[in-house]
Amino acid sequence: MIKRLLPWLFVLVAGPALAAGAGPVLLQSGANISDQASLQRGAGLYFQYCASCHSLQHMRYSRLARDLGLTEEQVMTRLNHTGAKFGDTIRASMPAGVGDDAVGGEDWFGKAPPDLSLVARARNDGPNWIYTYLLSFYPDPSRPSGWNNTVFPNASMPHVLWERQGIQTLRPAEEHDEDHGHPQPPTFDLQTPGTRSAEEYKQDARDIAAFLEYVGEPAALERERYGVWVLLYLLLFTGVAWLLKHEYWKDVH
Ligand code: HEC
Repeated sequence: MIKRLLPWLFVLVAGPALAAGAGPVLLQSGANISDQASLQRGAGLYFQYCASCHSLQHMRYSRLARDLGLTEEQVMTRLNHTGAKFGDTIRASMPAGVGDDAVGGEDWFGKAPPDLSLVARARNDGPNWIYTYLLSFYPDPSRPSGWNNTVFPNASMPHVLWERQGIQTLRPAEEHDEDHGHPQPPTFDLQTPGTRSAEEYKQDARDIAAFLEYVGEPAALERERYGVWVLLYLLLFTGVAWLLKHEYWKDVH
């Protein structure tokens, strides 16, 4: 019996480990969807730098306002640049096909930008993947966009945040630190500083990762809020039950 189960056990235990080993080495983002200020900053960056190309078709402006603690006016003036209505889903402001040639041409270097509603769930270890992706762009003249990325090799997305991060070059593979055979993330050297310090740029990436994690599962926010009340209720109820027990047994002893 055990013998027959062993291969399955191996798949269960080693499968995820092997799968994790096969992908890029991801950094820990520290993204936290209960941090509302972080979600608000992430949304601001998203609409400034990403929403021209990427839609969020499962998310409505009105829901964003409610979940992120923003007013209708804040969302409609600061985030929505497409003229969409408050109750509309979020479409890209310059979808593929109508882009201006100077920016990328017909279809952004051959690929249509995908909808990002579910990307944090679709990608393995999504928030960390997005975070590491945003930290891993480097110039590559052989690519049509002029950029490449170690997390998503040959991606046809340019480094849209380069002015904030600056320009970093990739060290040759043999110079990457090896830690006793454990794969290490690639290392970069900042050549031209950006408008943000290294730490501030990491915070940008963390905020965007948190925002996209929230967009992928907005109900998670509510669950956390209810969760606190459920725990408080249970605690209170335990107290009451304990008092009751005392009351009942008082006369028996
Ligand atoms: C100029 C248009 C453009 C802008 C602006 C842009 N992207 Fe992209 N993005 C793309 C394209 C095109 C792809 C598809 C790359 C491919 O498949 O080769 C992509 C892919 C992605 C992916 C991977 C999706 C997947 O799972 O395959 C993520 C995540 C992403 N973009 C996030 C962002 C974020 C975050 C921003 C803003 C900071 C942003 N993008 C801004 C064009 C853009």
